[in-house]
Amino acid sequence: MSIKKKLFGVLADGREVYSYTLKNANGMSVKILNYGGTIVKLKVADRNGCFTDVVGGYDCLDSYVGADGYQGALIGRFGNRINKGKFTLEGVDYTLFINNNDNHLHGGEFGFDKKLWDAETFDGDEPVLKLHIVSPDGDEGYPGNLDLTVTYKLTSENGLSIRYEATTDKSTPLNLTNHTYFNLGGYASGSIHSLELMIDADTYLPTDERLIPTGEMRSVSGTPFDFRTPKKIGTDINSECLDIKLAGGYDHCFNFTGGKTAEPIKRCELYDEKSGRVMSVYTNQPCVQFYSGNFLTNEKYPFKGGYPQRVQTLLCLETQHMPDSINQDGFTDCVLRPGEKYDFTTEYRFSVK
Ligand code: GAL
Repeated sequence: MSIKKKLFGVLADGREVYSYTLKNANGMSVKILNYGGTIVKLKVADRNGCFTDVVGGYDCLDSYVGADGYQGALIGRFGNRINKGKFTLEGVDYTLFINNNDNHLHGGEFGFDKKLWDAETFDGDEPVLKLHIVSPDGDEGYPGNLDLTVTYKLTSENGLSIRYEATTDKSTPLNLTNHTYFNLGGYASGSIHSLELMIDADTYLPTDERLIPTGEMRSVSGTPFDFRTPKKIGTDINSECLDIKLAGGYDHCFNFTGGKTAEPIKRCELYDEKSGRVMSVYTNQPCVQFYSGNFLTNEKYPFKGGYPQRVQTLLCLETQHMPDSINQDGFTDCVLRPGEKYDFTTEYRFSVK
């Protein structure tokens, strides 16, 4: 319906960063940067028609450059952790940048969240922002020239759809996601414990203390990880279960029942009783990392309007392949090979109850 482009800030090397605000006919809007493809603001109506910003983020570019929480950003080449930043592919050993204890996290030092993307807009009933980069052979240690397009679309049905398309000239692990933090009561509304969550997953991945999956795919039955029937996030978040203790809450990969699908289907649903907002997550990806914002402690980078960071006041539902899947037998295949096309779509669709 409308797209507004505005200068957001200037990087240290002089490159300009722009924000693109897409709005649909219902009044829902999303503000996205060409830096990191970062979602800065997402305004969604409650059951009384009042709009609130439901995503975490900062007021200025410096915070997006300096902070380490990946607020709203596109993540790649590999979402989540690769054990010790090492893998072997087609007989060749690769070493990646280490940025999380002794692991590689979210693509490394200058992952896709730190890149300035080429942007193109297409206005219409369903406004579109198309972002493009080429990640060169050797980028952060990964093989192959990767050509990547991410298309954000705001639909007439109040969906924010994100399509990831990529090709490569050498085999490479690839696991793209978006790292938006949500709170359906508004980003500054406090704890996420009262939100109700459904995840269509019958197994999850336990981790070690470095948050690397142990290799086991464990049934959610009878554990705090069973969200097949909607449940308040706070119900089991302080459980004595070892997996919860190791992560300080939820920070686990949930494997969707039946694995990846040809077309996106509904896999998660988040509901806020107070505002009536519902967020349904449609995807054709095989898994989701449910991260309950356990590391939101960085006092140096307050959120929009000076609101302080607080643990478990925002959550991520990062649709993805399995963390460290490049090193683990029996995990989802995360390799993109020459001649293949990577093509996944995730839509966050909003409604009220
Ligand atoms: C999440 C990850 C967390 C943490 C966070 C960034 O995707 O699961 O362990 O690293 O990103 O702070």
